[in-house]
Amino acid sequence: MGQQPREQWGTRAGFLLAAIGSAVGLGNIWRFPYIAYDNGGGAFLLPYLIALLTAGIPLLILEYSIGHRYRSSAPLAYRRISRPAEAIGWWQVAICFVIAIYYAVIVAWAVRYTWFAVGQQWGDDPDGFFFNDFLQVSDGPGMVSGFVSGVAWPLVAVWALVLTVLALGVRKGIEKANKIFIPLLVVLFVLLVIQALTLDGATAGLNALFTPDWGAMLDGGVWIAAYGQIFFSLSIGFAIMVTYASYLRRKVNLTGSAMVAGFANSSFELLAGIGVFAALGFMAATAGTAVDEVATAGIGLAFVAFPQIISTLPLGGALFGVLFFGCLVIAGLSSLISIVQVIVSAVQDRTGLGRVQTVLLVGGATALASVLLFPTPQGLYFLDTFDHFINQYGIALAGLVMVLVFGWLLRRLPLFEKHANAISSIRLDWWWKIALGGITPVLLGFMMWDSLRAELT
Ligand code: PHE
Ligand code: NA
Repeated sequence: MGQQPREQWGTRAGFLLAAIGSAVGLGNIWRFPYIAYDNGGGAFLLPYLIALLTAGIPLLILEYSIGHRYRSSAPLAYRRISRPAEAIGWWQVAICFVIAIYYAVIVAWAVRYTWFAVGQQWGDDPDGFFFNDFLQVSDGPGMVSGFVSGVAWPLVAVWALVLTVLALGVRKGIEKANKIFIPLLVVLFVLLVIQALTLDGATAGLNALFTPDWGAMLDGGVWIAAYGQIFFSLSIGFAIMVTYASYLRRKVNLTGSAMVAGFANSSFELLAGIGVFAALGFMAATAGTAVDEVATAGIGLAFVAFPQIISTLPLGGALFGVLFFGCLVIAGLSSLISIVQVIVSAVQDRTGLGRVQTVLLVGGATALASVLLFPTPQGLYFLDTFDHFINQYGIALAGLVMVLVFGWLLRRLPLFEKHANAISSIRLDWWWKIALGGITPVLLGFMMWDSLRAELT
């Protein structure tokens, strides 16, 4: 077990920036806008807010409290609660390993596209360019063709940066990086949204996003989507927040911090919804179609629709493109750093190895897996499979197991309630236990059952 004194954040603001950096990621920019649009538009905001308050923030508080109380990464912290629970921690570490491998690839694509955006190198067929030219450069061995085409080197650069930040440590690495990343992200993103709002058709886009369909609130699927978005977006159930909270000093406002992180993430999501749909409104207006025809999410939004939008902008296309892809890069990097730190920190706590050694060993292995697997033509297939599996089962299952084991089986909620209340501003009470012990497991169970059912039919 590690004998050196545990590292610490320099300030609470530093911790909050890192926590927000972890939460604000690709999901805010390319997932939320479409999920909201697809699930009742303006009416979605109500289930979404309820999900944030009844499940998102309560689970954040639980993860913060576990990490803070036991001052260790997930496996060791859970072991201190109860020996066999250590396995849950390693399972979360494994999930983080899988996510890191492909999350880094998307960040690397965004790096490459930031550069492409300058001269709009995707030509007038962004779709063909992305899937045929960019991803399947030649039939040669993946790595070699990857380096020739330039898909591989951004990935190597991303990993070099992430490992350097982690090797520098919690305060000098992670905290410093986020102190630069997050303010920069906010400034760039606000500029992007302002530019998007000036486009023709922006209003139609916003109407498409926000016009409420109140009937949607009677649809169970909409509630599942709201809870699903909250879990994904707050990165709950991956032990990331357990890990980050383990570096907090003894006296810190845990519940207040969870509120700030939760609402900051959601604000960013709303802002992204406005920016993305203003741009989609412009796209529809130029094509002479309805916004419904062009609304999309994920890879199709970022690497096909946005290049199209950027190319058709009358003015400042290069700037708009660099802003958009630059934001994806920064938001993705700060999330990636937090995912890999879960792995590094767990192994460090287990083996007592030094930080730099662990980063080189474990981070190096993750980077290698990522670099070897993904710049190949099969990469997209792996990515799709992983992403689907993690989204559908990884998150819901991990959160469900945590709540059932720590809440119901071991009955530790009162202990964490006391722990958080001793140092926090907002007092936990019966509502926290009902949210965590009742609402959260019921919804997570329902979500899992629903996706299993969809899989089978
Ligand atoms: N919360 C991140 C987002 O919104 C995604 C993420 C999931 C990051 C899991 C880390 C771990 O994009
Ligand atoms: Na998020």
